Formats: sequence, structure tokens, C-alpha cells
Amino acid sequence: MSETLDDIGISTTGERHTVTTAVAVAPGQDWVIVTRQLKRQYDMGGEIVRALRGVDLAIRRNEYVAIMGPSGSGKSTLMNLIGCLDTPNEGEYWLNGMLVSTMSDDALARVRNKEIGFVFQTFNLLPRASALQNVELPLVYAGIGADERKKRAAEALERVQLGQRMHHRPNELSGGQRQRVAIARALVNRPSILLADEPTGNLDSQTSEEIMRVFEELAAQGQTVVMVTHEPDIAVHAKRIIVLRDGVISSDETRAQYALKVSGERVH
Ligand SMILES: Nc1ncnc2c1ncn2[C@@H]1O[C@H](COP(=O)(O)OP(=O)(O)O)[C@@H](O)[C@H]1O
Ligand SMILES: [Mg+2]
Repeated sequence: MSETLDDIGISTTGERHTVTTAVAVAPGQDWVIVTRQLKRQYDMGGEIVRALRGVDLAIRRNEYVAIMGPSGSGKSTLMNLIGCLDTPNEGEYWLNGMLVSTMSDDALARVRNKEIGFVFQTFNLLPRASALQNVELPLVYAGIGADERKKRAAEALERVQLGQRMHHRPNELSGGQRQRVAIARALVNRPSILLADEPTGNLDSQTSEEIMRVFEELAAQGQTVVMVTHEPDIAVHAKRIIVLRDGVISSDETRAQYALKVSGERVH
């Protein structure tokens, strides 16, 4: 049984709508992600690589956030922690009010399957399975019966406008369509967070825009989206842009603030 807010005496009322620092907010309720001084280091045969050096982050339900930063800044490490694929060396991670940073691997896997939908740069689809079968897969693992699986997988494919391509295999689909199948697969368990690591990394710019339209629509429907990208043109589709540098957050801005800064940098 994981620790709950009541167990540790954190108040869930207060100035949630004015504070923005992760330290000040109460995990849970409308805060889907809260991290406090999250640290992750890797031991490379004696040499310690400090990938995350104390990340304080709070993400509200229904937010659409991009995490940016140069290569090696810790984006994937943070993504793996947020996605419950990995645990921190120090610090706290609260997901939907549950303290997950100290959970056992089994408990973490259960939370991950329920709460997180992943989208990767490499779509990771089964080549011999149809779009529908690919999307059904998480429901097979969840033990859902065949009829219900088909119905929910078809609905998820409709949400990404692939209702007409359900019986096609990945090699009969374009890159953008394949990524949309992967997005449908990520959504089919109705996760609280859609987590995407460089979702347009393998796509041309026109197809990237197609995928960004899908994300925007999902966000508009209330899906919480956290996307990692190193491309400013992709990041500006999100409503909030967080930049990592050397394992810490170096800026956290609205789309408008970020766009202004980026355009300024281009002019000068
Ligand atoms: N599994 C790992 N083992 C050792 N070092 C790692 C591992 N994963 C990442 N790192 C190191 O941690 C730092 C951050 O990496 P990463 O989170 O992948 O950054 P990004 O995704 O922003 O490129 C880098 O210095 C990287 O070399
Ligand atoms: Mg990375």
C-alpha cells in the first residue's frame, strides 16, 4: 500500500491556483505530477553521471507541456521517471497523489500500466498485426475480453482519425498513420498522462505537423500531455514549455513567452 496525502499530513487545500513551484503545491487533486528535488545519477564504472540534479516540477491535470533541452540535459531520464519506468536516487515523485518514488517494482508496474500511455520516436508496432490488433494489445495485458477490446481499440483509432485503416498492417500505412496507431495504443487504457519522447523524431516536417494536430486535439479534449522534444517548432505546439539544462529546470514558460524569446533569438 502506498503512502497517501493524509498519511503524511499534507494539506490538499490552500493556494493551489496561485503557487507554481512544486515545493508549494499539494500533490494529488488537480496536480497530476509533482516532483521535489528529483535526482538520478548513473554509475559508469566508478564515474558518476549526474543526469538529474534536483528537479522541482508540478503539472496540473489537462495541461499540455513540452520538455525541451539540449542532448544530454536529462530529458529522457526525467521522462523515464515520470513514466514510472525508473526510480530516482533521491527526491519525491507524486503521481495523482500517490508517492511513487518509493514504490516496489511490482507496484510501479501496476501504476504505469494504469496511468501512463507512452508514445516513442520509433513507433514500436508489431509488424504482422493490424492497426486494430496493435491497439488492442495493452487491453490483452489488462485481461479485457475480446469484444470489449475490439470496441475500445476501434474507438481509440477513431480518435486519431484512423477508423478507415483499422485492418491495415503497419507496412501498409504512412509514417504519420503509424504514429497515430501508436498514439491510439497509448490512449486505449485511458491513461491519466500521455507521455511522448521525441514523437516526431522520425517524421518529416509536414507529418510532424499532422501529429501535432492530433496532440492538440487530444489536449483540447482534456487529455494531459507531456512531450519531450529538442525541436522549438514542435515545442511551441504545447501550452507550457519547460527547458532542462544540465539536469535542472532552466526555464518554465507559457507558449507565448517562449515563442517571443525564440523569435528574439532568431532576430539578434
Ligand atoms: N542508462 C544510462 N547510463 C549511463 N548514463 C546515462 C544513462 N542514461 C543517460 N545517461 C547520461 O545521463 C545524461 C542525461 O541523459 P538523457 O536523459 O538521455 O538526456 P537527453 O534525453 O536530454 O539527451 C547524459 O550525460 C547521458 O549520457
Ligand atoms: Mg533523450
